[in-house]
Amino acid sequence: MQHRFIFKQYSYNYIIMYRELLMGTDSVSKIRINDLLNKMTIEEKIGQLCLVNTTGGSHLEALKNNLKDGKIGAILNEVNPDVINELQYIAVKESRLGIPLLIGRDVIHGFKTIFPIPLGQAASWNPDIVYEGARISAIEAASQGINWTFAPMLDIGRDPRWGRVAETLGEDTYLISVLGAAMVSGFQGTKLNRKDRIASCAKHFAGYGASESGRDYNTTNIPENELRNTHLPPFKAALNAGAATVMTSFSDLDGVPASANEFLLKQVLRKEWKFDGFVVSDWESIKQLSTHGLTPNDKESAFEAANAGLDMEMASQTYSEHLFALINESRISMQQLDTMVSNILGIKFRLGLFELPYTNPPDFPELVNENHLAAAKEAAIQSAVLLKNENNVLPIVKESVKTIAVIGPLADDGYEQLGTWVFDADERHSQTPLNAIKEISGEDVHVNYVRAMESTRSKSSQFFSDAIDAANNSDIVVLFLGEESILSGEAHCRADIGLPGNQVELIKQISATGKPIILVLMAGRALALENIVNDVDAILYAWHPGTMAGPAIADLLFGKVSPSGKLPVTFPRVTGQVPIYYSQKNTGKPVTPETYMHIDDIQPRMHQVSVGNTSYHLDTHYTPLFPFGFGLSYTEFNYSHLVLDKNEIHLGETINISAEIFNKGCWDAMETVQLYIRDVSASVTRPVKELKGFKKISLAPGETKVVSFQIHTDDLSFHNRKMQRVTEPGKFIVWIGSSSNAELQSEFEMI
Ligand code: NOJ
Repeated sequence: MQHRFIFKQYSYNYIIMYRELLMGTDSVSKIRINDLLNKMTIEEKIGQLCLVNTTGGSHLEALKNNLKDGKIGAILNEVNPDVINELQYIAVKESRLGIPLLIGRDVIHGFKTIFPIPLGQAASWNPDIVYEGARISAIEAASQGINWTFAPMLDIGRDPRWGRVAETLGEDTYLISVLGAAMVSGFQGTKLNRKDRIASCAKHFAGYGASESGRDYNTTNIPENELRNTHLPPFKAALNAGAATVMTSFSDLDGVPASANEFLLKQVLRKEWKFDGFVVSDWESIKQLSTHGLTPNDKESAFEAANAGLDMEMASQTYSEHLFALINESRISMQQLDTMVSNILGIKFRLGLFELPYTNPPDFPELVNENHLAAAKEAAIQSAVLLKNENNVLPIVKESVKTIAVIGPLADDGYEQLGTWVFDADERHSQTPLNAIKEISGEDVHVNYVRAMESTRSKSSQFFSDAIDAANNSDIVVLFLGEESILSGEAHCRADIGLPGNQVELIKQISATGKPIILVLMAGRALALENIVNDVDAILYAWHPGTMAGPAIADLLFGKVSPSGKLPVTFPRVTGQVPIYYSQKNTGKPVTPETYMHIDDIQPRMHQVSVGNTSYHLDTHYTPLFPFGFGLSYTEFNYSHLVLDKNEIHLGETINISAEIFNKGCWDAMETVQLYIRDVSASVTRPVKELKGFKKISLAPGETKVVSFQIHTDDLSFHNRKMQRVTEPGKFIVWIGSSSNAELQSEFEMI
């Protein structure tokens, strides 16, 4: 039967191609959209706005009938290609107007081949890695008939208590913008209608990352200036990269939940940014408008959302149940309805679904094939961040160890290494660190494995003595600890971001053996590690690295490749420092080493003063444990010769800023060179540092490279008090270095 569809499609495709050649794709789509709109009933139009969940297939028969009646425009969570083809067939052949379906799925960091969680990918600071991960995910998902993913997530991840930081690309507006755009391109390519590309969805618009106290779905408080300068640019960058769709946030913004927020959806998205794709709600987020307390019932929720410009409803049914009445009552106009429908049809045309709605899996490369695994391994390698390496305990020199103790619940757990959002993963593909270490260390090295804890949350110390015995009987200990997958992700927030369960005690007891300890941490967030950092010799932060965790980590531990990851988020010392991020504002009383006093240094009955005080916590240091952008290598890089090609620039000009990077060690290695600026004084206060450029380079031992950045005055612009985007004259400080603590510094003036 499938061959018949495909033959008919091909002959029809030629007619379309011929028209497109003559008139251009967009004009043809517009004509075809208008043709359809003229033929559609109100019910059929409303049908296009409905995104229906099929999980478990429980309502499949009812769904098929609704499809025939043109009451459904898109489905989510169906992944069986035969079922998807059947549903497409019903939509295309058995419904009156033959409009194909969007098939949505959360393909977040892989479909079957799982890449590092997005936060891990961000630690690669490599847009090519992110692009490739998305491209491969698109191929695998498209092979099964999926044509739309709900990624990238572009929310700002500044609160590691929030479980969804795992899905963010870090804390920084610029880094997220660059990597988010790369992810969009990876999913969509330059031609969205290719059969191996899928539509992306920039989410969650907007401000979701600012959920108070890092509790998911919580209210946000974001002044418009902060919203525009910090939270919105990654979305703009994703749309510039062609993102086809946008998803609204669950959260409330300035008293109006995002799914009813006209300012966000009409003013910013459509009027200012001219977005021409469609906007989808988050799961039941229209229905939840009444739970928020914005509306008294579902009908008013449907009204508020449609009126605000939300085109498609996910999961809940307020549109299907109430839009007809709202149109009859002239509260929602036909014109508004037609706009919503045509936004959606436009993406269906862009995807080429009218020409080829079906999938044929054999036309695609095998799932989880060698190339996909190699890309996943490279991503995991470049994502891992070396946070500490005392006495060069790493890399492990195979020839100088006879026995390695591999300890911990994450050393050999193919599921937990995958991280959050892996609905379609199969842990049987996972290659674990334990197996990879055994393989790489060969027959001459004995590996002593003890799981030690049932899970990362275990409170018991029942098996600690086995772990200590293993440590005592080994030359070196590699500990695999952190957080299992379920401790991060949607709704999985933590009030205390220390190592969970009895892990700290395990580390202390093993540390007491005096053996060199390498701690490999897998986690979906930045953890607060101050209480154990001095108990181990090395820390490799691997996030949740995905299917190829094992071979990637083993190659790093044994020095087949030098670590090159850099932190995409600041690591606090203790939870109470949160939110702590490098691009903070200076305040009127910034802390200095001279004004800082630790709680233990306070004399009894010390006199309280209100003059000369500065901004810090008494009971921890004012710096983070590890700064944004930080990450060690097996080699050492020397930064010098910061050169600006001019000291003054005028509006519209570009300044060239460069530095020399020298590999003074004896390892081939990659380094991410980072450029930061500070706008010293402006009409609104600006961050103490802002990332404005980065380049990941490779350097052989003894090699020097000059890395240059071109900064245009537009790159220095920001939203002022009137919310206009401006570049203001004045002094700018510039730094180039290997983290946000970069020391090479210069300045220029914009006049
Ligand atoms: C809710 C999440 O917030 C969103 O990111 C996801 O895409 C949808 N559910 C669909 O699963």
